[in-house]
Amino acid sequence: MNRPIASILGTGRHLPSTVVTNADLEKRIDTSDEWIRSRTGIAERRIAGAEELTSDLAVAASRKALDRAGLRPEDLDAVIVSTLTPDYPFPATACVVQNKLGATRAFAFDQQAACSGFIYGLAIAEGLIASGSARYVLVAGAEKLSTITDWQDRNTCVLFGDGAGAVVLGPATGDRRLMSLHMGADGSMVPKLLQPAGGSARPASAETVAQRLHYLKMDGKEVFKFAVRIMGEASAEATRRAGWEAKDIALFIPHQANLRIIEAAAKFMGLPMDRVFVNVDKYGNTSAASVAIALDEAQEQGRLKRGDKAIMVAFGAGLTWASCALQW
Ligand code: ACO
Repeated sequence: MNRPIASILGTGRHLPSTVVTNADLEKRIDTSDEWIRSRTGIAERRIAGAEELTSDLAVAASRKALDRAGLRPEDLDAVIVSTLTPDYPFPATACVVQNKLGATRAFAFDQQAACSGFIYGLAIAEGLIASGSARYVLVAGAEKLSTITDWQDRNTCVLFGDGAGAVVLGPATGDRRLMSLHMGADGSMVPKLLQPAGGSARPASAETVAQRLHYLKMDGKEVFKFAVRIMGEASAEATRRAGWEAKDIALFIPHQANLRIIEAAAKFMGLPMDRVFVNVDKYGNTSAASVAIALDEAQEQGRLKRGDKAIMVAFGAGLTWASCALQW
């Protein structure tokens, strides 16, 4: 593929208003603020209310992205939602979002690559634009992870939060362009991070509910080791494919899963932490929403300026990974 093909025309995010701090979790489970902060860097996370669905989070973020792009919902040709916590097993949450937005001309579908999903979504959008199948594409990463979080499992429940981020892409204009994309997967790692029941492997039954198999299960140590390696390697690959060197990178925008993983990836790239965007302390791991939320916050805070070179990178269940070189 000869790049550049696509530009990000606008970004947006939405976080639920309810804040759950580490101190709040100390009251529910056997944990401590000190343990959570030192192992993960997380201080608090946002949790959506019962009435606020994944599609609502996505719609709120998408409206902001459309506003910033100067486009109307009817201008969209495609709506892609990346999520592992859809409103329903089917149909796609993207169809719910398309309807709530009033994006009446758009085709709509979900794609799922867990925390790598937003960057996978950028790659799909770029392909749709390159083939002429779409001109304006909305990519939203949206999660209500609180619905698959086992609040009795201290190994996992301290890590996750709810939220959404979105971008609108169109044909490349000006300097703000996607310069490279790189993706991968290692399906042998499926058992290390999954929601065991509710799919065709173990359909929902009274037994699966009693065994708490509809909640996320994770081998934290194995995922951590994998993430530390792949986040660095994937970042270097996107940088190489863009024809850049690490010293060119003004801002590194990694998936916000754990501060120690972020620091290891930055070290691999030889980047000082003042060139790394971090908000895991405020939101925890919001899976497919994480990189999109970080991108929107980074540009709003002036951390990402016109012409800057940035690398976005993520890893997630599957296990999957993805990286993108972005000129802003
Ligand atoms: N509070 C207090 N103690 C805890 C807690 C907690 N919340 N959770 C675990 N512990 C205990 C464990 O029981 C263990 O005790 P033990 O030694 O008596 O058995 C001890 O703390 C140490 O546990 P470790 O597993 O060694 O802790 P570690 O330093 O590996 O950190 C963590 C755990 C934070 C989960 C880390 O492994 C990690 O970040 N893994 C990657 C997770 C991740 O990023 N996943 C991405 C998911 S993305 C997606 O696709 C959904």
